[in-house]
Amino acid sequence: MLTFAAEILSIIMSNRTFTMIKPDATGKAYTGAILDQILKAGFSIKAMKWTRLTKEQAGLFYDIHRERPFYGELVEFMCSGPIVAAILEKDNAVADFRKLIGATNPAQAEEGTIRKLFAASLGENAVHGSDSDENAAVEGSFFFSGLERF
Ligand code: RTP
Ligand code: MG
Repeated sequence: MLTFAAEILSIIMSNRTFTMIKPDATGKAYTGAILDQILKAGFSIKAMKWTRLTKEQAGLFYDIHRERPFYGELVEFMCSGPIVAAILEKDNAVADFRKLIGATNPAQAEEGTIRKLFAASLGENAVHGSDSDENAAVEGSFFFSGLERF
C-alpha cells in the first residue's frame, strides 16, 4: 500500500525543472556560487550549457510576457551577456527550485534564497526558474536536444 502511495506521489510531483543563470550574475562571476547553492539544495544537473542569447531567442523564450510593459527591457537584458542554461532534477523540482530562488523581486525574497543573495533588482534578478512542469519541459527543449540531456 505504501509503495502504491509513493508511486502515485512520484507521478504527481514533478522531478525536473529548467533554470538560467542570467547575464547580471554571470557578469559578476556568481556562476560558481549559484551552482554551488543549487547542488547543495539537492538538485542534480541533467544538462548544462554556457551560451549567449540573440535578441530574437530571448524574445521567443519570454514570449509569454510579450504584452507586458517590461518585455522590451527583459529581452534587452537577457541578451546583454552570457547565460548558463540547465535542466535540473530533484523530487518536486519546479516548486522546490522556485522556493530556492525566492521572490521575483529580490527585495521581497526570503533570507538565504539565491535572489536574496545574488540579485540586485527586479529586472536583474540573477536566475530564472520554470513556473510549471509544462513550461519546464518546453524551456528545456528550447535549449537542449535529446542527445544533450541525460
Ligand atoms: P523568471 O521567469 O525569470 O524565473 O522570473 P519569475 O517567474 O519570477 O517572474 P516573471 O513574472 O516570469 O517575470 C519574468 C522576468 O521579467 C522581469 N520582470 N520585470 N519591471 C517589472 O515589473 C518586471 N516584472 C518582471 C523579471 O526579471 C522577471 O524575472
Ligand atoms: Mg517566470
